[in-house]
Amino acid sequence: MIDTTQLLILGAVVALGYFMFNGSRHDPREPPFVTSGIPILGHMFGMLWHGVGHWGNQAKKHPEQPIISLDMLFTKFYVITSPDLMQAVQRNSKTLSFEPLLLFSAKNISGISNPKTLDLLKETDAGGQGLGPKIMHAMTPTLVGKPLDLMNIHMIRLIQPFIEKLGDSSTFDLYEWCKDATTAASTEATYGPMNPYKDKAVQDAWWDFETGLGALIANTLPWLTARKPWKGRQKVADAILKYSQEGGQKEGSKLTAVRLQFAMEGGLTLEEYSQLEVGMLIAFVSNTVPAMFWCLFDLYYRPELLDELRKEIEANAISVTVDGMHSIDLTAIREHCPLLLSTFQEILRTRSNSSPTRVVTKDTLLADKYLLKAGNTVSMPSIPMAQRKEVWGDTSKAFDERRFMNSGEKDYSRRAGGFLTFGLSPTICPGRHFASSEILLLVAMVILRYDIVPVGGVWKEPTKDTTSMVSIMGPVKGKFPVNASPRKEYAGVKWGFHVEEGKGQFPLIIG
Ligand code: HEM
Repeated sequence: MIDTTQLLILGAVVALGYFMFNGSRHDPREPPFVTSGIPILGHMFGMLWHGVGHWGNQAKKHPEQPIISLDMLFTKFYVITSPDLMQAVQRNSKTLSFEPLLLFSAKNISGISNPKTLDLLKETDAGGQGLGPKIMHAMTPTLVGKPLDLMNIHMIRLIQPFIEKLGDSSTFDLYEWCKDATTAASTEATYGPMNPYKDKAVQDAWWDFETGLGALIANTLPWLTARKPWKGRQKVADAILKYSQEGGQKEGSKLTAVRLQFAMEGGLTLEEYSQLEVGMLIAFVSNTVPAMFWCLFDLYYRPELLDELRKEIEANAISVTVDGMHSIDLTAIREHCPLLLSTFQEILRTRSNSSPTRVVTKDTLLADKYLLKAGNTVSMPSIPMAQRKEVWGDTSKAFDERRFMNSGEKDYSRRAGGFLTFGLSPTICPGRHFASSEILLLVAMVILRYDIVPVGGVWKEPTKDTTSMVSIMGPVKGKFPVNASPRKEYAGVKWGFHVEEGKGQFPLIIG
C-alpha cells in the first residue's frame, strides 16, 4: 500500500520530471497542447481508464482543432481528426510509420527481452535487421486466395457445433458464446488439428493475458505488477512451444507455417517464436469477438431489419439438396446479399473506436504547418471521423443499414479516410476477409435458425470494457444472458455451409 509520504515523494518526482522534460520540449510549431482534468498525469490516467477510446474522447472535446498534442509525461501523442491531415500522414509514411509498433509489441506484449533478438526484430530504418516487419508482411498473401479458402473451410467446421448447441441450451451468456465460438474456430483454422488452444486451460490463460494487458504493457516487474496476465502468457507460450516441437505446423494453415519459417530463417529460437506467437491471437480474436456480438445485438435489436435480412439470405444464399439439407453459401452472401454486407459495414462504422497509430521516426512538418517531433506517436481516432458530415453526409450520426449499398466511385472517394475500422492505408488489416467470413456466416445462420431474447426481454446495451488496449470493437464487460429458441420455419431441417474456392474475399470499404 502506498502511504501519504510515498505519494508526496512520487508527486514531487513526477512534477520534477515533468518540468525538466516537458517545459523545454515544447516547440511552438507543434500542434496545440490540450490538458486533461488532472494536471500532468491526466492523459496517462485517461489512457488507463478509457484505453484506445481516450484519443477519440479528447478529439471530440476539441472539434475546432484538426490536430492536438497530448502530453504523456515522457512522450507525446498527436491526435488527428481532419481527413486532410490524415492524407498528409499517408503521404509521409516513411517518417510516420506503423513498423516501430511491432517492436514495441514484441517487447511489451510478448515479453521478448534479449537485446540481440530485439535487434533482429527491429525495422531496418531504425538500424535493425527488419525481421518483425518481414514476418508481418509475409502473412498478407496467406490471408487471401486459396490459403484463405482453406482457413474458412476449417473455421466453419468448428463454428457449426456452437450454432447447433444453441437449440438445446438454456439461458446462456451471448458474449461468452461469441468468445468460445470464435476462439475455437479461429485457432483451429490457424493451427490445425494439434491446435494448442484446444486445451480450455490454455484458452483461459490466453484470456487472462489479453484482459490484463494494460498492466503487462507497462513492462515494469511484470511478474509482480501484472502477475495473472504474465503467468497466462507463459502458459500459452509453453503450449505453443510444445506444439512447434511436435511439428504441429505441418498440419496447420499457411499463415502459421509462414510465420514459423520466417522466424526460424531470421534467427529466432523456437522459444522466442513461441513467445511472439502468443500476441498473434490478439489479431485473430480481440476484435472479431466483440464485432460478432455487436452484429447479433444490432440485428435482434431491430426486428424489421432482421426480418428483411432473413428474407434476403433465404432468397439468395441458401441452397437445398434433394435430401432437404440447407447450406448457406459464402460466395452468395458476398455477391447477392447487399443489404447484409452494407449492414455489416455500418455496424463496424458505428461500433468501432479504431485509432490507427503511427510512430514519428524523424521530425516531420505535416501539411507544411505542424511539427511532429521524432519519438512521439500519431493517433487518428475513428469516432470523430466516423461521425463527420463532410465524410458521411447529413445522416453521419445515424445508423443507416443501406449506407454502403450501391455506392459508386464518387461516393467511395468522398468517404476516403472515413472508414477506419480496418486501419488506414498503407497499414490495412490483412485479416479482414477471414474476420468477415467468420462473422457473416455465423450471423447468417444464427439469425435464420433462432429467435434470441435477452433475459428481461429488452435489448439494452451492456456496459463496455473501455480499458482494453487492443480491441477497437467495444468488448463487453460482464455477462449478457439470453435465451435462444429454434424458429418453427426450420423445424427438423439439417444445416451446413458452402465455401467455394477463390471466392472468400469481400469487397469491403477500407480507409
Ligand atoms: C473485426 C475484426 C478485425 C478488426 C476490426 C481489425 C482491425 C485492424 C486494424 C484497425 C488494424 C490496423 C491497426 C493500426 O493501423 O493501428 C489491423 C491490423 C492487423 N490485423 Fe486486423 N482486425 C480484425 C481481424 C483480424 C483478423 C481475424 C486477423 C487475422 C489474421 C487480423 C490480422 C491483423 C494483422 C496481422 C494486422 C497488422 C497489419 C500490418 O502490420 O501491416 N485482423 N487490424
